[in-house]
Amino acid sequence: MTGRSNLVELLDPPTRDLVGLCGRLASDRGEYAYLVGGRVRDLLLGRDSVDIDIVVVGDGMAVAQALSRRCHGKLTRFHSFGTARVELSDGRIVDLASARSERYAHPGELPQVQRGTLAEDLSRRDFSINAMAIPLGPDETVELIDDFGGRADLAAGLVRILHGRSFADDATRMLRAIRFQVRFSYQLSDGTARAFAEAVRGGFLNSISGDRLRRELQKLYTEAPVEGPLALAGAGLLESIQPGLKAHPASLEALSAELQLVPDHEPFEPWSLILAATATQLGQQQRWALAKRLRLTQESCLPLIDSGTEWDRARTELTQLSSPGKRAVVLDKFAKGALRVVIATDATINADLVGAIRRYLDHDHSVRPLLDGSSLQAMGCPAGPAVGKILRALRAARINKEVSDRGEEEALARDLIAAH
Ligand code: CTP
Repeated sequence: MTGRSNLVELLDPPTRDLVGLCGRLASDRGEYAYLVGGRVRDLLLGRDSVDIDIVVVGDGMAVAQALSRRCHGKLTRFHSFGTARVELSDGRIVDLASARSERYAHPGELPQVQRGTLAEDLSRRDFSINAMAIPLGPDETVELIDDFGGRADLAAGLVRILHGRSFADDATRMLRAIRFQVRFSYQLSDGTARAFAEAVRGGFLNSISGDRLRRELQKLYTEAPVEGPLALAGAGLLESIQPGLKAHPASLEALSAELQLVPDHEPFEPWSLILAATATQLGQQQRWALAKRLRLTQESCLPLIDSGTEWDRARTELTQLSSPGKRAVVLDKFAKGALRVVIATDATINADLVGAIRRYLDHDHSVRPLLDGSSLQAMGCPAGPAVGKILRALRAARINKEVSDRGEEEALARDLIAAH
């Protein structure tokens, strides 16, 4: 038996073996490997976690290569970051990196990176609770490397940055601080709260790219769809992302409940609905500006864009219609996600309209006429816009149960073609 850290013994046996192997492979090269980051934090908290992040004081790429060879894993190298990933056949993933030090030439930009010591590698990290390391070498006697008091901060429930310039170096840490605060019900340490307030006042969030900002928001809203935006608003960060963004607890609760109802086959990004729910006060131009700032994809942009002025117009039209078929034609213009957002956030719609939208989402949206364009043309309908118009009318008739079989649909189609 070696002097292996007792903490390693707390890992599940397959992970314990895997990180032990990383330690030996590094040691064979005369180098040292450490388990770092969120997995160490979660291990100390007794929480499940899947991440395996290894730092090698030496050549992390070479250890990754040795690991992939030994385990017949798939090796991917990220040369620009100097990191590598090994994917095992059972799906487990190990991320390896060489210990490095970082220098931020300009706030918000990605740092310049060079090889460094373990202490340097840990000191470039975000919070004390994420800056601990467990030695994996076969002859290690030290249980935990914890230069910044992460273990004590876990016990005290504190998120603490490691130095005063942390948020200026990387403003995504402001969102990460909120995420860990919400996840663990922690507080910011006093110094961190002061630095945070200064970073909000200084508009540090503007220094980060849209992609990084979007990824952090996505993580936060996916993990905490109600508490996440509320905490951002409380910290003044929603306004930094886009003036006018607001978090209403009742709307967010309602949307969060709505998200549970979405069937598995409906493709959607829940976080983008949460984003749209915080944008109810924004005009259309501001919505587009936000979509551009966050570099939203077409799919994640639709709930935000469709729930704006387009919805205001449609709401008026829908209240004047009573047939589900005609309402479906109006609702067809909206992304389903946007409809779920308005159900949860639009306080001006009445129960009848909510019921109509639900009926559409649950059923009517998928109703199609039995006839198609070519059958209409075979019946004498001229090619062109008339085909679409009649198909829409047939669909509305099916939704309204005015026709129930092909014969009835053909009879209606003949009337519509003749009237055209
Ligand atoms: N890290 C950092 N600064 C960032 C992002 C990451 O210092 N802006 C460091 C932290 O040490 C973090 C580790 O990189 O623990 C891994 O990052 P990530 O996987 O994003 O965070 P986790 O702490 O593992 O969070 P989660 O539990 O959400 O996976």
